Amino acid sequence: MEKLLIQGGVKLFGEVEVSGAKNAALPILCASLLTPDKLRIRNLPHLQDVTTMLTLLGHIGVDVELDEKMGVMLSGANVNRLQAPYELVRTMRASVLVLGPLVARFGRAQVSLPGGCAIGQRPVDQHIKGLEAMGAEVEIDQGYLTVSAHRLIGAEIVFDLVTVTGTENLMLAATLADGVTVLRNAAMEPEVVDLANCLVGMGAKISGAGSETIKIEGVSALKGVDYAVMFDRIEAGTYMTAVAATGGELLLRGLDVNIISSLVSKLSSAGGEVHSEGEDLLLRAPCRLNPIDIKTAPYPGFPTDMQAQLMALNTIADGTSTVSETIFENRFMHVQELKRLGAKIEIQGNMAVIQGVSELAGAEVMATDLRASAGLVIAGLIASGETSVGRIYHLDRGYERIEEKFGRLGAKIRRLSN
Ligand code: EPZ
Repeated sequence: MEKLLIQGGVKLFGEVEVSGAKNAALPILCASLLTPDKLRIRNLPHLQDVTTMLTLLGHIGVDVELDEKMGVMLSGANVNRLQAPYELVRTMRASVLVLGPLVARFGRAQVSLPGGCAIGQRPVDQHIKGLEAMGAEVEIDQGYLTVSAHRLIGAEIVFDLVTVTGTENLMLAATLADGVTVLRNAAMEPEVVDLANCLVGMGAKISGAGSETIKIEGVSALKGVDYAVMFDRIEAGTYMTAVAATGGELLLRGLDVNIISSLVSKLSSAGGEVHSEGEDLLLRAPCRLNPIDIKTAPYPGFPTDMQAQLMALNTIADGTSTVSETIFENRFMHVQELKRLGAKIEIQGNMAVIQGVSELAGAEVMATDLRASAGLVIAGLIASGETSVGRIYHLDRGYERIEEKFGRLGAKIRRLSN
């Protein structure tokens, strides 16, 4: 297994090229199942999860042609297998996103239940509830979801809780349903809007994406599209938080700064200086870090995918802070690892209380899930001495060339295969 070796305590200066958003790319790639026409999807990030999704789509029969810059040409003309097998789904929960489009276009799909993961049970009951409301029959047998419908019928669906991929799955399904579907209490994440924009480009009739009520008027067929995936706001936020914590200066280009406003306001409260002009953002690290209280929430609230990274910053802030996780039931696994680096953190239910310390000291730590490992990398960049982060396959799922991008900022970080 590979690990990252980090010599911390170095201020970071420079520019990072932000990749395409993993969490927009994954549902957008599934849109290829909705039409026999060709989709050209650009600005895809080079990530394990994207490779897994392309492998799954290939397994189902989508023709996949990668071009040199990780753009991809997809065609759903020859789909011949309406099944997502366990060995692929267990490595990436977002595989469940093939369910909606397969049932919508072919009337049937069999998808392995994703199972839980490190950060929580992560059930898909809302996905199922929505498809049943649209007239589908759903059976669960031997770990597989089998969903069938002669033709999905537009319905009014009220989510019991905000679910990003639940909203996306049902939006995908509703584009070819007979009649109008209204999704209430829908997720408002920018990645949901990006998917909607791509589907509208394919001829779907969608309004309200980005609000809590999305209306989709089913059409009889969709056509191909040439679409570029939005920037990855979590990747951008991770580099911003790292530079704020280590000291230095960071330039990011091609951002829609409005959609990272909750993070910008937190880093400004921490003492960071953030200037934005058009799509460019310049962050100057503060002289001293103020502790910042965080409570995760669905968009536009503070993103749960940035929780571990901000906790790492709080470990050396000048005072006490609290981090409350309201989305997932087990997303504090980075806490024990941060404590190995000298952080002072106590967990009280779904809230962590962090006492800032003057410095962290490098140690061996273990990644447990994608964003926890990003928090550990930031802590390693802060800590004096050497930190080794193990099991970084978690990182590679969501961060493209992380040691290269941090290295370009002056970080002393290298990947070791052991
Ligand atoms: C998406 O996961 C993201 N993944 C996650 O990012 C992100 O953390 C999460 O949204 C929250 O923002 C992708 O977009 C591929 P949810 P998703 O359904 O859709 C519960 C990363 O690091 N729930 O919004 O799976 C669920 O257990 C990943 O890039 C149900 O109870 O999350 C959770 O507690 C990690 N029943 C809460 O809702 C359901 O049917 C939010 O989950 C669905 C969800």
